[in-house]
Formats: sequence, structure tokens, C-alpha cells
Amino acid sequence: MRMYDIIEKKKHKEILTREEIVFVVDGFTKGEIPDYQMSAFLMAVYFNGMSREETVMLTEAMADSGDKLDLSAINGVKVDKHSTGGVGDKTSLIIGPILASYGVPVAKMSGRGLGHTGGTIDKLESIPGFKTTLTTEQFIENVNTIGMALVGQTANLAPADKKIYALRDVTATVDSEPLIASSIMSKKLAAGADCIVLDVKCGSGAFMKTPGDAASLGRAMVSIGKGAGKKICAVITDMNEPLGRFVGNALEVREVIDALKGGGEERLMEVTYTLAGLMLFGAGKAEDATAGKKMAEEAVINGNALKKFREFVKAQGGDPDITEDEKILPKARFIEPVYFEKDGFLASCKTTEVGMASLILGGGREKKTDEIDMSVGIELQYAIGDRIEKEIPFAFVHGNDKEKIAEAKKRLLEAYTLSDEPVEKRPCVYEIIR
Ligand code: URA
Repeated sequence: MRMYDIIEKKKHKEILTREEIVFVVDGFTKGEIPDYQMSAFLMAVYFNGMSREETVMLTEAMADSGDKLDLSAINGVKVDKHSTGGVGDKTSLIIGPILASYGVPVAKMSGRGLGHTGGTIDKLESIPGFKTTLTTEQFIENVNTIGMALVGQTANLAPADKKIYALRDVTATVDSEPLIASSIMSKKLAAGADCIVLDVKCGSGAFMKTPGDAASLGRAMVSIGKGAGKKICAVITDMNEPLGRFVGNALEVREVIDALKGGGEERLMEVTYTLAGLMLFGAGKAEDATAGKKMAEEAVINGNALKKFREFVKAQGGDPDITEDEKILPKARFIEPVYFEKDGFLASCKTTEVGMASLILGGGREKKTDEIDMSVGIELQYAIGDRIEKEIPFAFVHGNDKEKIAEAKKRLLEAYTLSDEPVEKRPCVYEIIR
């Protein structure tokens, strides 16, 4: 078999066989296929696509390229969630304790943030003492005893995806549906859960700009998951503005605690309860997704989810009293208000720019090796559709450096537009694909 012939075949929109796809994935992972040939192949896929069967085979080949987690030592139906990435998305940290409070095991590996998007692991590391690495034995024991453990990715999951993604990133081939679907699903299949709920974001802060494109990606991933024997669904949610009021690591942990105490922002909680409801249903704890959603709300109202969050933080070395004393979390030296120059209705948001404003303050990474300032970020007071008055702060910037604060304020104001006319609020959940 020759890589040249496989590229030629894809160039002419022909369907590849399993042997050919495995040849490409294994050969590239082992370093036998050079970057220039893989780049040509990826671009051919970008333009000519892949059939559903080819996408499934590509996913399986990538999932088979490294370790596969064996969660069989954990009792119960293991449920996982995945978000395609956004700004201010802290739903995993609210959903985990909700599920664990109903005895659904949460054994989750999460990622770090890069560019405008945040990562759950960075958020957790803003909690003093919190450990995001555990031995496999400790990880499993925590899940079996308190119901929940959340760690950074330590196992060598889908190394083929890591290598292919790095090449896609520099060859303008990231935004291809079969490549995104196989990339995400290869890691999910290797992570070992029985049931997967996908949160596919759409809008100005997401890969997919429209609900239609996001639904198409969602369908592709659901069909891959079903093909692999998983219980799976995808929820299409809005990322035309940040989710919730805070963007930044310690600030988002503060928001998670507020949410677990019943004070969560409306859109954040709608997405959270929808996802949690589907996961409770998937785990067999709720009759259907609607009943699951109601159960998720109850776990917040009766305080069980907050109690579980404290147990989880303590079990991983963090100070559980962060739920009672927010001064324990890192705080920025300066909190500066941001004003618009005129009144109006908040009409649109370039969501990635809000993430970039937080990154400028030190809250994110441009390169994987960058250090993060846990204390900084953005505190929004309003959402799209709200009326803004120029005398009332539209947002606050939390920072430690006056120059960076000035730049972040400018970037934040430029990210939004105001309208003289009232603006309709968008739904935050568009569709559920099963
Ligand atoms: N997230 C991934 O893991 N892979 C992609 O291709 C896009 C988003």
C-alpha cells in the first residue's frame, strides 16, 4: 500500500477501505508517513469529505492508537460529557456534583485551555491545594467512595489524534466535519464511558457558526458513538456570547459555587440542567430527560450537589471552605468597571474576543507552555438583549496590571455591538440529537 495512491483516491472523492485508513493513521503516528503527505491527505479530506463509514473507521483507528481506559472497576453506568469548546463554559463543574449526588459515577479526564477557550483543569487548579493528577488507583477509589473524580489527561489517549490535530492546526484543516468528529470521538471512545452526552456549541465563539452546521456535526458524532455501541446524544447550544457571567479561572469557580447554591445565571443553568438531565437519563436514574432535568434542579435546591462538590474538592486536596469563604480563592488586585459611551440594547458579541480579553489579562494561554494568572478575568453584568445604560458598568475587568487592564477593556467593548432597537434574546439550547 502506498500513501501516494491513498491521497490520489481521496483527491478523486473515492471511498477508502478500512485497511487504507488504518495504514494512514498508523503510518503517520509511527512517523513512517511524512507531514507533507499527511497534509495533502488532510486537505483532500477537507475538500472532498468522508462518508459516515469512513469517518467511523478513522475514529476507531485513532482510538486504537494508544491507551484505552478500563473503568470496569467503577460500579454503575459511567457517563461522560464533552463540550466542543467555548468561553465561560463551566458546566462540567456543576454537572459533576449533581450526578454524583444521585450516585452516578463521574470519572472524568478534562483538558486545559488554549487560545480563547478555557479548560476545566485550569479552573480547578485555581483552588488552593487542589491536585489534578491522581494515581489510577486513587482516581478509581475516589469515584467509588465519593462518586466523583476529575483529573487532567494523563493516559496516552488517542496519540494519533494529538499528532494529526497539531498538523491540522498549521495546515488550515481544523474546520472539517469528519476531522472534528473523529478527533473528538476518538478520545471519548478511548476514555471508556458507557454513555456520552455531547455539548456541541454554535455561534461566534465556536467552530460551528450556525445551529445547522452544529447539528450536522452532532449527528456525525452521535452516529460514530452508536456505531461503537455507546449510549450517546448531542445537545446543540448557543455560544454567541459567553456562558454565564464570569470568564477566568478562579472567577468561574466562584460562579460554580454560586450556581450550586442556587444563584446561577439563567442561560448557564438552562444548559447545565439540560445536559445533566440527559446524563441522569442515560445513567438510568431518570425516567426521561425531562425528569432528569427536574432531578438536577432538585439537587441544587436541596443542597446535595453543593455538599458533593465540597467532598470532591476535599478528596483532591483542595480547601472545601471555598464554598463559604470566597477570599480563599485567588483575587486580582484591581477590579475596574467598563462603560459604554451610549445607551442601547446589547445586540451581538464576538465571543472569541471576550476570551481574548481574559487571555490578555493573563487568564489564558497563547502557547501550551504559558503560565496562567488564576485571579484575573471578566465579570459581565449583562447578556445579549439587555438594556445598557452608559452610567452603569456593563462589565468589570479583574486584573493585576493596569496596562493589560486598559487593553482588555478596549477589546471587551469592541467585542460587543449596541442597537437602538430592542433585541430578541436567543435560545441557549437549540436541539437535542439522539
Ligand atoms: N476539539 C477536538 O478535540 N478536536 C477537534 O478537531 C476540534 C475540537
